[in-house]
Amino acid sequence: MSAKAADLVAALAGLEREAEERIHAAARDGEALQRLRTEYLGRKAGRVTGILRELPALPPEARRELGQAGNQAKARLEQLLAEAEAALAARPAAAGADLTMPARRQWRGALHPVTLVVDEICDIFRELGLTRVVGPEAESERNNFTALNFPPGHPALDAQDSFYLGPGALLRTHTSPVQVRVMEAYRPPIRVTIPGRCYRRDPFDASHSPVFHQVEGLVVDEGINLVDLKAAITFFARRFLSPGVTVRFRPSFFPFTEPSAEVDVSCPQCDGSGCPVCKHTGFMELLGAGMVDPAVFEAVGVDPERFTGWAFGMGLDRAAMIRYGIPDIRMLFEADMRFHAQFVDAA
Ligand code: PHE
Repeated sequence: MSAKAADLVAALAGLEREAEERIHAAARDGEALQRLRTEYLGRKAGRVTGILRELPALPPEARRELGQAGNQAKARLEQLLAEAEAALAARPAAAGADLTMPARRQWRGALHPVTLVVDEICDIFRELGLTRVVGPEAESERNNFTALNFPPGHPALDAQDSFYLGPGALLRTHTSPVQVRVMEAYRPPIRVTIPGRCYRRDPFDASHSPVFHQVEGLVVDEGINLVDLKAAITFFARRFLSPGVTVRFRPSFFPFTEPSAEVDVSCPQCDGSGCPVCKHTGFMELLGAGMVDPAVFEAVGVDPERFTGWAFGMGLDRAAMIRYGIPDIRMLFEADMRFHAQFVDAA
């Protein structure tokens, strides 16, 4: 064999080895495989094809030998390419994936911490026979104030304190207007919990928000008295906080209850001994409550001679913050997924 023919055979063997290595390396990339086919086997500029183009210039014997080696190399590379492409096509979704990696848990969404405490609170009162109802956030001044016995000129009616939507219409400042709606829609006995969003012109800082949440409770029947209220609230506080909690009723005032009380509980953090959470008082304010004022019964058409009732209203945002150790009320309203994803397991 001529020296030239021997060079060409050696070059061919080198090309074949190189191509094999590169096909192997590109096994997960269909486009790269396609480019390799063109680079080595392309009819016009393929590198293997280029060597075979030298054939006519060789003596017949060398021509046969190189021709045979060339055809074998072409067939082998073609087979390697076809195998790599078939393997790729057999698992297109897995191309480039690590099949040994453990599956990720599916993101199922999380419940908002306020929703979690609403569910918890309403479940506890359901054991006492209270049904969960809701009312609208846009209310009439009449339902939000007048029917609840707020006197004309009460500071809460001031546009400085409430978000008015127009004359006589506002975003409710508490869940109590739903008491009015329930008592006008149903006759006693009435036993309801009313969770919902409320609005007041408050600054937005670590402990205040112009939008906040309350749960209202309302029980109206014959013979309901203050002892029922104290028993229901105490039962609730022990279930919601801890069995050993101390409940304290302080006289207070609301236009729609008489008598009215502010209910405190011994601080769940320090058990009443005093800590920063309870500002060293040993107690924390839990809710406002009282016996439904007869003037409210009259406004909604319930006979105050026959029926009595109790009601309470409780802020939920602070309850959720205490329950889940949330330091800043704004976190409840910012919709930061890094915050909300922490509640995914509770859902
Ligand atoms: N609505 C009152 C508030 O927002 C709370 C309350 C409700 C008090 C029911 C007594 C009875 O502060």
